[in-house]
Amino acid sequence: MMMDSLVLRNRSCRSFDEGTPITKEILTDLVDLARRTASGMNKQPLRYRILSDSSEIAAMLQNCRFGSALPGVKLPPENGKPTGFILIFTDKEAASPESLALKDVGIAAQTILLAATELGFGGCMLGSFEPTRLNADFGISSRYVPQLAIALGKPAERALLTDAHDGSLRYYRDAAGNHCVPKRALDEVLI
Ligand SMILES: Cc1cc2nc3c(=O)[nH]c(=O)nc-3n(C[C@H](O)[C@H](O)[C@H](O)COP(=O)(O)O)c2cc1C
Repeated sequence: MMMDSLVLRNRSCRSFDEGTPITKEILTDLVDLARRTASGMNKQPLRYRILSDSSEIAAMLQNCRFGSALPGVKLPPENGKPTGFILIFTDKEAASPESLALKDVGIAAQTILLAATELGFGGCMLGSFEPTRLNADFGISSRYVPQLAIALGKPAERALLTDAHDGSLRYYRDAAGNHCVPKRALDEVLI
């Protein structure tokens, strides 16, 4: 049943192979795809910033938090950092109600990650960062509200989906170091 689906292969990844960087051209192509996805009332309130210089990536890594549910694990690891970021903003001056604009953010982010996975890359959506600092670090006007960051690169970790038991949805690392992500069962999510 669709076991090799792109959707299933696209897992949040927090360790990367720095030897195979995602290029600025590919990051730009990913934004070029995202800008053409569905948008509530077709208002297209999203704006993007690509980070691909090592100094910009270092600044972003100082601001965001990876894998907070795994406090004993340093993520990303020392030599396994993402090699690019795409930051997604909403434009305060776009005439899109916030409830619609935030849905657009999710659609754009998932599209970027699916397309990256198709190309052999991967990444992680990051909502945990300080927004004022982000705008200041990258010289972005307060007109643009950062909603989600996507860390990208060549994945260097293995993620396994497991069945959620006992109500625990917390992701964990198994003895072999695999990243394990519990998902609710089909009969639980069908109402
Ligand atoms: C809106 C959103 C915000 C997220 N923020 C973070 C984050 O700040 N840091 C992080 O490490 N992962 C973040 N994640 C990734 C989730 O932890 C991840 O999706 C979840 O553990 C399930 O794993 P999966 O994506 O492989 O299914 C975020 C995911 C979403 C959808």
